[in-house]
Amino acid sequence: MPRVIHFPTLENSLPPLGTPMDWERAHVWHPFTQMRDWCATEPVMLVDALGASVQDSHGRWYIDGNSSIWTNIHGHRHPRLDAALQSQLKHFAHTSFLGLTHPGAAQLSAELVALWPENTLSRVFLSDNGSTAIEVALKMAAQYWQIKGRPEKQRLVAFEGAYHGDTLGASSLGGVSTFTERFAAWHLPVDHVDSISALEALSADGVAAVVIEPLVQGANQMRLWPSGLLAQVRQWCDWHGVFLIADEVMTGFGRTGTLFACEQEGVVPDFVALAKGLTGGYMPLAATLTTERVFEAFLGGADKTLYYGHSYAGHALGCAVALENLAIFREEGVLSRLQLQIQRLAALLEQHLRPSPFVYEIRQRGFLAGIELRAAGGAPFVAGAAGLGMGARVCVAARKYGLLTRPVRDTVVLMPPYCITDLELERAVCAVAAGIEECCTKP
Ligand SMILES: Cc1ncc(COP(=O)(O)O)c(C=O)c1O
Repeated sequence: MPRVIHFPTLENSLPPLGTPMDWERAHVWHPFTQMRDWCATEPVMLVDALGASVQDSHGRWYIDGNSSIWTNIHGHRHPRLDAALQSQLKHFAHTSFLGLTHPGAAQLSAELVALWPENTLSRVFLSDNGSTAIEVALKMAAQYWQIKGRPEKQRLVAFEGAYHGDTLGASSLGGVSTFTERFAAWHLPVDHVDSISALEALSADGVAAVVIEPLVQGANQMRLWPSGLLAQVRQWCDWHGVFLIADEVMTGFGRTGTLFACEQEGVVPDFVALAKGLTGGYMPLAATLTTERVFEAFLGGADKTLYYGHSYAGHALGCAVALENLAIFREEGVLSRLQLQIQRLAALLEQHLRPSPFVYEIRQRGFLAGIELRAAGGAPFVAGAAGLGMGARVCVAARKYGLLTRPVRDTVVLMPPYCITDLELERAVCAVAAGIEECCTKP
């Protein structure tokens, strides 16, 4: 006799009495979060946002110091971005992109292509997030080599310290062991190298693609690549007939000072993955751009079709807000204003953080900075009794001074929205300094 399980009816399944904080503690599971510690403290619950700031449920305002996990560009509740969403809502929020299309997706694809040199990246595949943008590139590369009669080209090369997302394909490329080691048995085979000389020492036999975060490895505590490395990787790929996949999920849309990081080394990859800032940080939307050469290889019978897609591909709200994001870049001089902000950030970091004996290194590239903390003699900090690293403790302390951000290990990340005012930027840097002063002197 099968056991009878009674499912609640819709009428009696209303949320139990309580507050959002009660429901949060009882039911929610957060990314990259030790939930035991999370549930033992009062989490910051955000209820509002405006410009470069966000507000919590107690009415406290904070500067959004990491641009809502590296996504936000022009600030929250931007009138033009809000209006673009409302205007698209008069038509529809989402329709299928399988066998159908809509004007916003077509226009966005054309505008993204126009941001790259003529006749280079000419085709756009839309998906949902940074990880899927990478998955698309991997599957396109794999299937391209099969179509071309080179099925042995299956190996992937990525870099130590890399982070390309958390879906299994993307996390196979990851080189930060904390994120990847427990899934190693499930991962695709990937060769990891840590430098251009290690890449050059590698046999290119069977290599399908090299994947790199241009200029900066974000999740590797904002480590900056030596100047010229990206161009050298491009040369190695050209020499050996290997695809170059550039992951501009974090660096894209101005973060390193140019619209794309690749520009700074005159590199055009075979695939570029865009997400996060594509919609100004408003919607989950991603784009993988590739060349006509790749696209044309897939033209033919059903066997050549790219077997890949997501239900929300080409999301109409995402496309509408991404188009407005690009219009703001074009019409409001965002990149030239940003150059001043970059200089201002550098000066503030020099003034308020460099003198601290606990600031081991400041790694700034464009409008992002990683502030690595070490004990006064240069030794890494040991995690505190509660297991909380110094980076996390400093970020928690900085909240009292009006800043919300997140570290990567003991590196505090500062990369606010570009609309931040000079005064807010100074407050953000001073909040990190105050957090360091408060925590590092009594580890
Ligand atoms: C360089 C890079 N690639 C890919 C990803 C994954 O993006 P998502 O979290 O949208 O899947 C990230 C996320 O931080 C990233 O920094």
